[in-house]
Amino acid sequence: MNKQSVVQLTSIDKSYRLGRVSVRALADVSLDITRGDFLALAGPSGSGKTTLLNLIGCIDKPDRGRIVIDGADVTALPLHRLAATRRDVLGFVFQTFNLIPVLTAWQNVEYPLLLRGTPRRERRERVERWLELVGLADHARQRPDQLSGGQRQRVAIARAMAGDPKLVIADEPTANLDSDTGARILDLLGEINTTTNCTFVFSTHDPALMARAGRVVHIRDGRVDRMADGGWQMAEQMPAHHLAATSASAIRHLPSAI
Ligand SMILES: Nc1ncnc2c1ncn2[C@@H]1O[C@H](COP(=O)(O)OP(=O)(O)OP(=O)(O)O)[C@@H](O)[C@H]1O
Ligand SMILES: [Mg+2]
Repeated sequence: MNKQSVVQLTSIDKSYRLGRVSVRALADVSLDITRGDFLALAGPSGSGKTTLLNLIGCIDKPDRGRIVIDGADVTALPLHRLAATRRDVLGFVFQTFNLIPVLTAWQNVEYPLLLRGTPRRERRERVERWLELVGLADHARQRPDQLSGGQRQRVAIARAMAGDPKLVIADEPTANLDSDTGARILDLLGEINTTTNCTFVFSTHDPALMARAGRVVHIRDGRVDRMADGGWQMAEQMPAHHLAATSASAIRHLPSAI
């Protein structure tokens, strides 16, 4: 196996059962995602993007085929081992943010670290660093309902990143945001990607967002239709004017090993 491979999907089939009817959501999907990829899944509604992200995210299992995440074949793993993979290797960003409403921004970012048993001091350092990097150091004590949509998604990104994931999975991370805010969130993800070399895979309907991806995988009727290069390589050269000035400089000094 290629050492740089973070996700390897081989001949994946997935169907859902609806009463007596079986809906084929994915058919013979093979895909390699390598370290540092900033990969968009594009395709019409119902084409299978979420199904594919759920399989990569170890939230669901395929009917057939093989899934290797970070060198481990997860296809045959029991559910409790999948939960450990989700917790230790993956980070998730959702369309609807999925923050815990009664917790502050700070506590939301801390929560997965608590689940992992990260010691208190390290938790504090990571939460502070990531809230700073996403430009929310001054909003740490606010609950999600006291934040804007874009700020909520920044909290979710900080939460996903604080655990040093190998791979971040984002299902339409900008779909609930206006286009300006969505573009800023994508810039932030791209900035984190180029600085930390963390691998990202996200789904989107928005052509403007596909243009920011490093690679676009087009899905149609549950199959990989075609792959194309995106435009993020060019965006890399742009100044990080969307990030708070302190965040932009801090993020550039992150160790690339994260
Ligand atoms: N839990 C489920 N039970 C039955 N069918 C499902 C289920 N989830 C998805 N499907 C079906 O599987 C197919 C792929 O759905 P999926 O949600 O992966 O598409 P998508 O590309 O994410 O669409 P969208 O862009 O609208 O989010 C669709 O035909 C859908 O109706
Ligand atoms: Mg979907």
